[in-house]
Amino acid sequence: MRVPSLAAISMSILASMALAAPTSNNLLTWDEAYAKAEALVAKMTLEDKVATVTGEGWEKTKCVGNTGAVEDPAFPSLCLEDGPLGVRFADNVTAGLSGITAAATFDRELLYKRGSYMGREFYLKGAHMALGPCVDIMRSPAGGRGWEGFGEDPYLQGVAGSETVKGIQDQNVLPLSTLLMSCFAPFKSSSNVDDRTLHEIYVWPYARMVEAGIGGVMCSYNQIDGTWACEDEYTMNTVLKQQLGFRGLVMTDWGAQMSGIPSALAGLDMTMPGDIVMGDGYSWWGPNLTKYVNDGDVPEDRVTDMATRITAAWYKMGQDKGFPETSIRAFDRDSAPEVIVDGNKEHAKIVREMGAAAAVLLTNDGILPLSDDLKKIAIVGSDAGPIPMGLNNCSDQACGAGTLAMGWGSGTADFPYLITPYDGIKSRAGDDVDIVHTYDDWDLDKATDISKDADVAIVFSNAASGEEYLEVDGNVGDRKNLTLWHNGDNLIQAVADANENTVVVIHAVGPVLMPWIDHPNIKAVVWPGLPGQESGNSLADVLFGDVNPSGRLPHTIAKNEEDYPAHIDPNFNVEYTEKLEVGYKHFDAHDIEPLFAFGHGLSYSKFEYSQLKINAHKKAKKGGVLATATVTVSNEGDRDGAEVPQAYIGFPESAGEPPKLLRGFEKVFIKKGKKAKVTFEFTEMDLSTFDPESQEWNVASGDFTVYVGASSRDIRQTGTFTL
Ligand code: BGC
Repeated sequence: MRVPSLAAISMSILASMALAAPTSNNLLTWDEAYAKAEALVAKMTLEDKVATVTGEGWEKTKCVGNTGAVEDPAFPSLCLEDGPLGVRFADNVTAGLSGITAAATFDRELLYKRGSYMGREFYLKGAHMALGPCVDIMRSPAGGRGWEGFGEDPYLQGVAGSETVKGIQDQNVLPLSTLLMSCFAPFKSSSNVDDRTLHEIYVWPYARMVEAGIGGVMCSYNQIDGTWACEDEYTMNTVLKQQLGFRGLVMTDWGAQMSGIPSALAGLDMTMPGDIVMGDGYSWWGPNLTKYVNDGDVPEDRVTDMATRITAAWYKMGQDKGFPETSIRAFDRDSAPEVIVDGNKEHAKIVREMGAAAAVLLTNDGILPLSDDLKKIAIVGSDAGPIPMGLNNCSDQACGAGTLAMGWGSGTADFPYLITPYDGIKSRAGDDVDIVHTYDDWDLDKATDISKDADVAIVFSNAASGEEYLEVDGNVGDRKNLTLWHNGDNLIQAVADANENTVVVIHAVGPVLMPWIDHPNIKAVVWPGLPGQESGNSLADVLFGDVNPSGRLPHTIAKNEEDYPAHIDPNFNVEYTEKLEVGYKHFDAHDIEPLFAFGHGLSYSKFEYSQLKINAHKKAKKGGVLATATVTVSNEGDRDGAEVPQAYIGFPESAGEPPKLLRGFEKVFIKKGKKAKVTFEFTEMDLSTFDPESQEWNVASGDFTVYVGASSRDIRQTGTFTL
């Protein structure tokens, strides 16, 4: 079903429209889109093309960025709006799960649904391009923007990124993702990475999103091996456009363009927000680009190509068929026309469901799910309560107080409401349970006092981070360390000392240290991550057993900070010395025991794995499936629930890969006493390594091992095949 032209539909109808069914079948192919784009651009003057590729200036437009409009032939000013978890700078939008927590669902269908409802909201607000998803790898756990993306593994990032892309563009909105390492490289530093690592770790997720049809990619603020990303011919032209066959546009991050001519020649297609220094009113392009062409410094063909890529992406998304008026007023919020995007609360339901599906049960001695006989529950910690500054009262959510449901920076959205953990638990527990609480993290006597005679004490703590233009408690975007905030370790210790049924709940942007983990009174640890507006409801669903937990860690939680392969690096040159050994691959390669492994997460049920069968197909067609593995998973517990069997591949030794790489996962719901057969298909790409010399991917040859298990460190079945 094509989303109808909205001009004729009143807002009340919009509000009640259910999530549209996928429309991707109706999206144009790139060839079809290019045919239309070429015809349009052929009618444009040089000045028209320049307007299409140049932003109209910081804070001068409706959206966080807008391109110039062309009158004849008509081409609209495109509205570009953040961000990866929803529509920023807008009212009445859904503030759902952050990328890192969406990834923890390990659920393709839910990831698609999230992309889809977000796409719908961008569409209804009239934003042509959504500035997300972020698929940069969490190479260093303290990196401030790691939570915007999907974790430490390229395969997981690739699946989550492409499902999100499909979801967004099925709603006729163009997703844009930041190219290469911007999220985690210090602003204006050089990310120095060898070519094999670049391809196998950092380009991998982009390759999967290009296959999914992504229309735009953003070049980042940092340098890549000594060249500004937005004038790096190698990544923009060679890798993205030639090797991956990307036919969409490359756009700058805000103010990341450092030159007019070199950037144009290196493959940049759009400058945002258009200024040289944000707000200065000058541009590297605009009239300067016209002059470069007239002076013969930039061929006009290059500008034609830029405009064609942009208009082709617009046609591909079907935006020529009618698109809602832009109702965003990013810099004048009060003047924004009211547009309700989730009138029937469908999106909120997805957020609640996903929040529960993403909650990772790290440990459980049987105290969870909470029994129905509880008379008294103690809730301790500011992370269980409201944000004391009020909702949306801190710049881009940089509060650092109250319950943590998203990080801070441009990747945020306003909360329409926020169900705190206290609210969620209280409403689920009902009036018969006495709920006592304290939000004071520093008064340990009070925490002890209210905890000691409760049937269960639930203690909350968190750790936040964000984008570096905002600082919270000395954390300039990146975290200063991996410890819990607000006296968290002492608070947890005090509650556990006081109550032998202690449950710890952590809302965090990424790994934290857990010095209290062996305390005998800590009977369960729950990791809901950054669940968004439905936080408390999703948590209560899991704590009370209405939902059987099935979240899995998208990053390793180490015993010590030094155990990680990469750390925040204050130097200009940031050397990616860990190479391919990012995340769990480093722990495997160096035999370091993690506290909680990548992929770990418990259930209230018990799953067994058996009958691993592997078939190799040496003669698969190009790009096809070279091996399949089938495993039987049975639910041996007394509850229905979902399990996430994961398939890791051990490459032949000669391939020079870390011990094992994630190459498949599936979330399967299995009723108690039943079993399911799960099949993993390993494609040519899954079994290849990148050769920098020939610039090609080659299938490794020799003996492969298939490890199937419940986490990267809980392997239940092993088999081999040879290629
Ligand atoms: C951020 C981008 C964002 C842009 C526009 C930049 O500071 O790095 O992620 O899309 O601002 O708000």
